[in-house]
Amino acid sequence: MSLFSPSILAADFSNLREEIKKVEKADFLHLDVMDGRFVPNISFGPGLIKALRPYSSLKFDTHLMIVEPEKYITTFAEVGSDLITVHAEVVTHLDRVISQIKDKGCKAGVALNPSTPLNVLEYVLDKIDYILLMTVNPGYGGQSFIPLMFQKIVKLKELIQESNLDIKIEIDGGVNLDNINELSNAGVDIFVAGSAIFKTDNPADTLAKMREKTK
Ligand code: DX5
Ligand code: ZN
Repeated sequence: MSLFSPSILAADFSNLREEIKKVEKADFLHLDVMDGRFVPNISFGPGLIKALRPYSSLKFDTHLMIVEPEKYITTFAEVGSDLITVHAEVVTHLDRVISQIKDKGCKAGVALNPSTPLNVLEYVLDKIDYILLMTVNPGYGGQSFIPLMFQKIVKLKELIQESNLDIKIEIDGGVNLDNINELSNAGVDIFVAGSAIFKTDNPADTLAKMREKTK
């Protein structure tokens, strides 16, 4: 069964406590932390995540789009993240950061930009729980899915199956009601979606429709 992680980046920031209630039937809440350095945009930090934590029973899926994430793993674990994902592009000692995340009792994810090859994960595969494939260039919500990422998903699925490991494929960017069925067939386990959920009149209903279109 597919899992869903709505991204609050597309929600109404002035009303987040109410916004997150609309997606209570999801599996995770996707929290996009952007620093204006790794990505051009600045979003929010641990204070906001801490403030939202009591108002949702979803697992918190924290996507760190920041440089030097190793300095903030403890902070993001302590504000209530269940899953912490770092970008392979900014981490020099990936193996060490993954251990840091797990030592804090969180699940560990590694994110790859669209242009980053899968082989950077070869020697950490046995340690990670989730691989987050960016299907747009990170930094903004509302961008279009990059078509070549279909092949990347299929290739990653094969790789995981060959290795016999229990790693989930999460994708992020440009997911919508029109492409979700095909993406599910390609092997995606967890869908992040921001605009396609929060920019609709009834996010709960849209989420239900998305579920119907996936395996
Ligand atoms: C992009 C973020 C995404 C973003 C997705 O850098 O990591 O999580 O919210 O937005 P949509 O679903 O609108 O493409
Ligand atoms: Zn994200």
